[in-house]
Amino acid sequence: MAKAAFIGVGNMGGALAKAACKSLGADEVVVANRTYSKAEALSSETGCRAYANNCEAAREAEYIFLCVKPKQIQALIAELRPVIKGKTLISVAAGVTLSELQEWVGEDTPVLRIMPNTPCEIGKGLTALSGGKSAGEEHFAAVECILSCSGLVERMEEERIEPYNAVAGCGPAFVYPYIEALADGGVLVGLHRDEAIRYAAQMVMGAAAMVLESGKHPGALKDAVCSPGGLTIEGVAELERHGLRAAAIDAVVAAWKKGKTVDK
Ligand SMILES: NC(=O)c1ccc[n+]([C@@H]2O[C@H](COP(=O)([O-])OP(=O)(O)OC[C@H]3O[C@@H](n4cnc5c(N)ncnc54)[C@H](OP(=O)(O)O)[C@@H]3O)[C@@H](O)[C@H]2O)c1
Repeated sequence: MAKAAFIGVGNMGGALAKAACKSLGADEVVVANRTYSKAEALSSETGCRAYANNCEAAREAEYIFLCVKPKQIQALIAELRPVIKGKTLISVAAGVTLSELQEWVGEDTPVLRIMPNTPCEIGKGLTALSGGKSAGEEHFAAVECILSCSGLVERMEEERIEPYNAVAGCGPAFVYPYIEALADGGVLVGLHRDEAIRYAAQMVMGAAAMVLESGKHPGALKDAVCSPGGLTIEGVAELERHGLRAAAIDAVVAAWKKGKTVDK
């Protein structure tokens, strides 16, 4: 029996299944998808086994990751119900609570939720992990092991998942336009497009690493780049004039509010 099944291998399920193939070895991973060609392509790429039938894939694994859209998850659980006895279910669906999942799967089946972000695809992601009353230490540890090649996995109380998601789940889409815009500025002052994008992205990665590795407050790190009367503070003042901080704060709050109205 394989360790992990991924049902729904779109953007997120595909990225997680690839990471699991690295963490566990492809022999330990099975996948299924409504459009079978997607599962088949993943199988050719990684060596994991692909199934056209969700129940067959689920029957083959201990841990079943449900990677469909929130509004599709209840029907998927109903479909899998005959084969989930003795297995553990993990939902990736935003806005679907542990108590809803537990009600749909029944009391005896351990249920966990994860909230990954897209950098999981290259092993630099962040995934929130939360478990229902039915989930024990062994289930948490197994999910951490399966996702170990996707990046960091952080356990948290369920109440923190939606605020976390507004920052770290949606966050890549808040940062990419910023990188693109910095590169636009670079092109405007004479850089080639490809080098401008590379410089901006490498700089954002380095700045993020400084925050994480130095433990210093981002404000202090910003101050350290700004010499009195220098060019950097001119740029910082321009960002403030255009409301960069307010825009970032509002983006997170808007995403969080939308998360409360997810269709399921
Ligand atoms: N994208 C993110 O950054 C992100 C982050 C955190 C959490 N999530 C969560 O991840 C879930 C999936 O999002 P996504 O962006 O990966 O969506 P997606 O790219 O549309 O992938 C969903 C996949 O599920 C398949 N599917 C739908 N119903 C199915 C069924 N009954 N049986 C088998 N496969 C089925 C779809 O197949 P078809 O090819 O036939 O359409 C599709 O490949 C959502 O619940 C979302 O909340 C996403």
